[in-house]
Amino acid sequence: MSSTSLTYFQKMYADSDDPWNFLHSDYEKRKYALTVASLPKELYANAFEPGCSVGVLTELLAARCHRLLAADFMSIPLLCASNRLAARDNVQFEERNIPDDWPDEIFDLVVLSEIAYYFDDAALANITELIVSTTVVGAHVVGVHWRGQTNYPLSGDRAHEIIAQNAALQLKVHHAEDDFVLDVWERA
Ligand SMILES: C[S@@+](CC[C@H](N)C(=O)[O-])C[C@H]1O[C@@H](n2cnc3c(N)ncnc32)[C@H](O)[C@@H]1O
Repeated sequence: MSSTSLTYFQKMYADSDDPWNFLHSDYEKRKYALTVASLPKELYANAFEPGCSVGVLTELLAARCHRLLAADFMSIPLLCASNRLAARDNVQFEERNIPDDWPDEIFDLVVLSEIAYYFDDAALANITELIVSTTVVGAHVVGVHWRGQTNYPLSGDRAHEIIAQNAALQLKVHHAEDDFVLDVWERA
């Protein structure tokens, strides 16, 4: 199985604490608002957000969760996120390399925002299986990804196709526009 290397992200974060401008981009702000608006439940008990970066979506998700585990394999954005959200006592930040350090917990929400296309088909299928085996029946799994050209292993659309191939996930919400695709699946 293969995934985009840690070195790629080290280079990205060497130039900027927020290389994708998550903190100030109007495009991201709207996409994040649509993402949380698409959550079928008002409140989740225990959520997981791998690849949280500087934690902008994390902050919005935190308002919809009793507890949220936000993880990234890069310490710089994690520190930025945990400093900004220091007042939020329901968010736990952990340095984790996905899928090797997948948490040994059970979730009712898992959010894959702009991270699934960093893996190849087999690695993402494995991650989807991990999600299924660490979620309760009725849990929600969110995917939201850029649809444009990248040099990542998968396109956003292909990443969602692979997640959707898992028979334990049923599509609940589908939203696609030129720039991004947003899907919410329910764990059967
Ligand atoms: C494009 S950013 C997306 C940030 C956030 N999810 C959002 O949508 O605002 C991708 C993040 O995933 C992290 N990441 C990539 N591969 C990872 C892996 N295998 N394990 C943990 N984090 C990873 C990167 O360090 C980066 O911060």
